[in-house]
Amino acid sequence: MPDDSGTQVVLSLTRLRRIRALDPANHTITVEAGVVLADVQAAARGAGLLFPLSLGAEGSCTIGGNLATNAGGTAVLRYGTMRDLTLGLEIVLPDGRVWDGLRALRKDNTGYDLKHLFIGAEGTLGVITAAVLTLFPGIRARATAWVALPSPRAAVDLIGQVRALAGDRLTTFELMSRQAVEFVLRNGNRDPFREPHPWYALVELTDTLPDSDLDSVLAAAMTGVTDAVLAAGPAQAAALRGLREGISEAQNHEGPSLKHDVTVPISDLPAFVEHTGAALRKAVPGIRLVTYGHVGDGNLHYNLSKPPGSGDAAFAARADELARIVYDATASFGGSISAEHGLGQSKTETIRDYKPTVELDLMGQVKRLLDPAGLMNPGKVVT
Ligand code: LAC
Ligand code: ZN
Repeated sequence: MPDDSGTQVVLSLTRLRRIRALDPANHTITVEAGVVLADVQAAARGAGLLFPLSLGAEGSCTIGGNLATNAGGTAVLRYGTMRDLTLGLEIVLPDGRVWDGLRALRKDNTGYDLKHLFIGAEGTLGVITAAVLTLFPGIRARATAWVALPSPRAAVDLIGQVRALAGDRLTTFELMSRQAVEFVLRNGNRDPFREPHPWYALVELTDTLPDSDLDSVLAAAMTGVTDAVLAAGPAQAAALRGLREGISEAQNHEGPSLKHDVTVPISDLPAFVEHTGAALRKAVPGIRLVTYGHVGDGNLHYNLSKPPGSGDAAFAARADELARIVYDATASFGGSISAEHGLGQSKTETIRDYKPTVELDLMGQVKRLLDPAGLMNPGKVVT
């Protein structure tokens, strides 16, 4: 754990900001850990290609952090997480050796694929200093819709319809409760609809073909929805995306945010939302359920805000009890209590109740093997 012993150092890699290589024929880019995500996206775009990782913090977050946390974001549905976008890593190990694993290969069956131990390890096994990342064909057409829905069940039905019709052109499918959107609308954003609706989805199709008529494909897939707005151009699309991306920040103005980041199988999302919502409302009448997330990944940010007018401290004091309700429900659907935000130091104990002991033991053994002195990010992930 961090302490005041004077024996700890904080490493910043932001000066490792070189793009070392971009190989268009191999569809790869080799970047140092301190390169900002948006700069990797821009370099790929400059070569007519795409680096698809996309998230709210892309203007400031770095590739090293994206790798250490196995970042997800809003295009995982189509392109996968950071893990899926990584071919090779360069790592400084706890014993001081440098592992040059910067291979730009899509096939390499030469034993254990060790890079995956370091991706998502939250800095507990070594310091990632550079990576080879995969690129994709550049996007030349995009359609964005904001959809009103009666329920999460309708959202799961809709994503099925859109996928059946659009295949992997479906890039983004984000679900938001009215409560989540209402917080964002309080900050002066415009509601795309005249009436409030219980649930909303942000749906995006993209294509490499410039003349692809994605609006028609989207419109054709929209059966059974309450209402829908198709963005007329990039500015309106950005405004619709802003309603989704602003939720986290907007919730901060509503008292303590009790945050949970869970996944269940997509097919179980509707039952999970119903079951968990009922249990939470029973525990705290008037509780505000700020539910939103990535339907294509089965990943919900099941966040909670206090009942209006009640005290901050009393609500915050119930954090563990309410987390237990959310996590027990998650576990009962075979889910994970941390889909994309990691364990850090706040969930190292909690995870012990939800992961098999064999798996926890293996994690501890890997940690001790690579970092016997416990130098790297002590107190995080494994205890
Ligand atoms: C998001 C962050 C909270 O999806 O993961 O907005
Ligand atoms: Zn998220």
